[in-house]
Amino acid sequence: MGKFQVFPDAAATNASAYDYLYYFESIVTVVMVVLIFTCVTVFAFKYRRRPGNENTPLIHGSTKLEITWSIIPFLVMLVMFFWGAKIYFDNGKPPANAIDIFVVGKQWMWKVQYPGGQREINELHVPVDRPVKLTLASEDVIHSFFLPAFRLKRDVVPGRYNTEWFIANKPGRYHIFCAEYCGTEHSGMIGWVTVMKQDEYENWLAGGGSSGTMAEQGEKLFSQLGCVSCHLTESAGRCPNLKGVYGTKQQLADGSAVMADDAYIRESILNPNAKIVYGYKPDIMPTFQGQVSEENLLQLIAYLKSIGGKRPAVAPGAPAAPAKAKLVKTASAGSMQ
Ligand code: CUA
Repeated sequence: MGKFQVFPDAAATNASAYDYLYYFESIVTVVMVVLIFTCVTVFAFKYRRRPGNENTPLIHGSTKLEITWSIIPFLVMLVMFFWGAKIYFDNGKPPANAIDIFVVGKQWMWKVQYPGGQREINELHVPVDRPVKLTLASEDVIHSFFLPAFRLKRDVVPGRYNTEWFIANKPGRYHIFCAEYCGTEHSGMIGWVTVMKQDEYENWLAGGGSSGTMAEQGEKLFSQLGCVSCHLTESAGRCPNLKGVYGTKQQLADGSAVMADDAYIRESILNPNAKIVYGYKPDIMPTFQGQVSEENLLQLIAYLKSIGGKRPAVAPGAPAAPAKAKLVKTASAGSMQ
C-alpha cells in the first residue's frame, strides 16, 4: 500500500518468463517510437520549403529501402511470435502431480474448494514450490480470474471449465482480482491468495473440511439426487453404471467417441441428451439444470473420479513429487519438502 510499483510482485515460477518477453516488446516499441518521431522531426526541418528549395523533386521510391523496412520488422515480429508461442505452450499443460483446486466465480465473489472438502470465499491458499492446477467455472456471467503476482489471468466462462496452473515460489499474500466487467460489484470481486510453506499448508488443510472430502460430498449428493439408484446398481440396461467410467473413452450412440472427463460429466448432468452412450436411450435421465450449483457439479465429478477408471483420486494434501524443473524452465531451485 502506498508503495509505487511499475511491476507487480513476482511470486510464481513463470512470472519472469512473461516479464522478459514484456521487456523485449516494450524496448522494441520505445525504439520504434523514438526512431519514427526523430525521423519525422528531422526531415520536417531538413526538407522544409525555403528560398532555393521551392520545388519537391519527383521521387520514384526505392525497392531496396522498402524491402529493408519490411523484412526487419517482420523478423522482429517473428521473434515475438515464437517467443510468445513458446511461453504459451510451456504453460499449456499442467503437470500430472499438480494439486487440484476448484474456483467458482459468482456475482460477486470467488468460491474456492479443495479436494479435501475445505471451502473458502475470496481466499485461496496454496503451498510454495508445488504445481497447482485451478479448474475455473462460473455460476452466472463471464468473470476473469486474475493473479497479477503469478502473471495469471484466465476468463471464467459459464458453461465450461477452464484450467490454469502455476508454481508459486514466494510465500506471502497476493491480490486476486476479477478482470472482466461482470456487473455492479465487479470492482469488489477481489480476494487474496496466500502462499504458504508446505508444513503450514498441511496444518491449514487439517483445520477445515469438516463435511468430508469433495468426493464424499459428491457421494452424498449422488444419493440425494437419486443418481445412485440407476447409475451404480442398475444392470437392466436403462443407464450406464458409472463405476470405472471417469477417464475412459466412451462409445456414443451416434458412432463417435468421447473422453469421460470433467466437461463431459458436467454436460451429461445438465443436458443428459447431449451425448448418449452407445446402447442406451435418450430422454430417460432428467436434466439437473438449475438444481445443482457449479460447486455441487465439481463435487459430483470428484466423486465419479474417485470411483473412476484411470487416475485414482489423490488423497487430500498427499505430498506429490516436486515439480520437474524441465516442465518450467524458469523454475527456481525448489525447496525440499
Ligand atoms: Cu466478476 Cu468482474
